[in-house]
Amino acid sequence: MVALDYPGAAEARQLIEALKGIPCYMKVGMQLFYSAGPEFVTSLKEQGYKVFLDVKMHDIPNTVKGGSESVTRLGVDMFNVHAAGGKQMMEAALEGVDKALGSGHTTKPIVIGVTQLTSTSLTVMNEEIGISGSVEEAVLRYARLAQSAGLHGVVASPLEVIRIKEACGSGFITVTPGIRPAGADMGDQTRVMTPPEAFEQGTDYIVIGRPITAAKDPRAALEAIIQSVSQ
Ligand code: C5P
Repeated sequence: MVALDYPGAAEARQLIEALKGIPCYMKVGMQLFYSAGPEFVTSLKEQGYKVFLDVKMHDIPNTVKGGSESVTRLGVDMFNVHAAGGKQMMEAALEGVDKALGSGHTTKPIVIGVTQLTSTSLTVMNEEIGISGSVEEAVLRYARLAQSAGLHGVVASPLEVIRIKEACGSGFITVTPGIRPAGADMGDQTRVMTPPEAFEQGTDYIVIGRPITAAKDPRAALEAIIQSVSQ
């Protein structure tokens, strides 16, 4: 999945043009969605892309239900909500999906729970956010909670995939950002793996942003990643 973290549609379209013909899932996050809006998602769908709308909903259940209904109507293939919002909130997200499907919408999106952001270090989690224990314990608790609410999987660091699959079963989907090809700049990510390492852990989808979007030649960067994975 290519993270289209851009300020607007024009910049994102440039990258899409550069990557034309390479099969990939497009991830639209809050920066692009808040500026380019639903029309941008619709245009990606019209071009045949699968779309992960990464807007990490976290609000009262009724609002999340409404948000989920709206994004399902948009035709996204995947979207996410924070597991930290609790079970009832995650269940409300699925109710929103069902409501949209019940009114004739056909694409059933995969709904994913956000566990602990891959930029969160142990110190930040313990001292700033106030969650005690290890990051791995927090991630597993969130994953189990998301599964008990009926969600299809979670976003997590590739370092946690094996434990999540052990706890929730191999069919429980993992979407893993925090991916850095060998030698790439870490940026603000702290818990990272290379693309082949992440797939060796058994992850289902890898999300990559800056190693592609900030590359001098994004097409060559993505091709090198695909090559490294197929080897
Ligand atoms: O540029 P980089 O490869 O770090 O981008 C990672 C992408 O994955 C960003 O769009 C970020 O918002 C997203 N993400 C993340 N950690 C999560 C969930 C999403 O880094 N837990």
